[in-house]
Amino acid sequence: MSKFDVKNSSLAPAGKKRILWAERQMPVLGSILEDFKKKKPLRKLRISACLHVTTETANLMRTLQAGGADIVLCASNPLSTQDDVAASLVKDFGIRTFAKKGENSKTYYRHIFAALEHHPHITMDDGADLVSQLHGKKKALVNGMIGGTEETTTGVIRLRSLEKKGLLRIPIFAVNDADTKHLFDNRYGTGQSTIDGILRATNVLLSGSTFVVAGYGWCGRGLASRARGMGSHVIVTETDPLRALEASMDGFEVMSMKEAARKGDIFVTVTGNLNVIRREHFLAMKDGAIVANSGHFNAEVDIPALKRLTKARRVARPYVEEFALRSGRRIFLVAEGRLVNLSTAEGHPASVMDMSFANQALCAEVLAQSGRMLEKRVYKVPAKIDAEVAKRKLQAMKITIDNLTPEQKHYLSSWELGT
Ligand code: ADE
Repeated sequence: MSKFDVKNSSLAPAGKKRILWAERQMPVLGSILEDFKKKKPLRKLRISACLHVTTETANLMRTLQAGGADIVLCASNPLSTQDDVAASLVKDFGIRTFAKKGENSKTYYRHIFAALEHHPHITMDDGADLVSQLHGKKKALVNGMIGGTEETTTGVIRLRSLEKKGLLRIPIFAVNDADTKHLFDNRYGTGQSTIDGILRATNVLLSGSTFVVAGYGWCGRGLASRARGMGSHVIVTETDPLRALEASMDGFEVMSMKEAARKGDIFVTVTGNLNVIRREHFLAMKDGAIVANSGHFNAEVDIPALKRLTKARRVARPYVEEFALRSGRRIFLVAEGRLVNLSTAEGHPASVMDMSFANQALCAEVLAQSGRMLEKRVYKVPAKIDAEVAKRKLQAMKITIDNLTPEQKHYLSSWELGT
């Protein structure tokens, strides 16, 4: 088994510069790195991480390494790797990395297996691909493991399904569900980076456009509000009545995708589900409609159906493919329907990843301390960790908040006082 697999080692100096740039905006993770250097909570532990290989992830890897962990990193998506970062991780930080932007499916899985060959005590997933293999082809490796962490909504859904069927074989912390993760990363991170990805790929004017957001979870909420902020007329589609109502009362137009398909200029899926935009929707779209996905898997847009409707395809710009339909209309698909924010831009800004990855590092520490005592379940991130991350972030932002007075504490714990 090779020691690493990256595209071009000569990119390392550029990658290092960008990793250090991101570090400046990751003060919470930086403070954990300093603690880890002293305490070495991950000493003698092997960690296999399957994450988007970005500058922010590089800083998480440096933190785990400072804590004493022996790490192997592979990509959690074929298009999200930043090749300069992968090169620098290997060359400057001695972290074995298996990731190349644009790798095909075979290489993607070869890299996943390379990470598992490390015989991890702890896994760190973004989308549950490592844990999924540990419950399939690589079952034997579970013996000796302590547990894992999961970064994203889609991964947590997969793990909860394993847990529900009684099949989950290790404890996992659902980092995605920490408040200091999804309230910021999913909402403000996805909101901004999705717009960033669409603009870098297409350079279209958002102002005055009709922007359709499929899904009103935390990512959809963030994206809809950012698109509105750029002057788009925003339509939200949903399957959940409560979320649809919320979107409506947040001031967005809500309708079915069937209706929205006729109206939209730009479509983005953020649902975590399958075939949200499909044949009947492509057929109803205007000539020139732009379609992108910002959910974890490239299954939200039914690309096989789009191909079946198409008479000719060409690359219109880097990461933008034109599908000329037999009807004469053209549809532009961004980044092969893979998550657009990491494929055509740089993913979420470091400042939000700071909190997400602080949760990752602190959950790894909990696993190291007490993971062997945990049941084979999907666990919430301990409230203490969430509160600590929020406190450290506020400190770093130099924001002070009030303390409850003794009188207020008493009032909050009593029932006698009324009108
Ligand atoms: N997920 C979304 N944005 C990311 C980033 N910048 N780094 C790693 N994972 C991400």
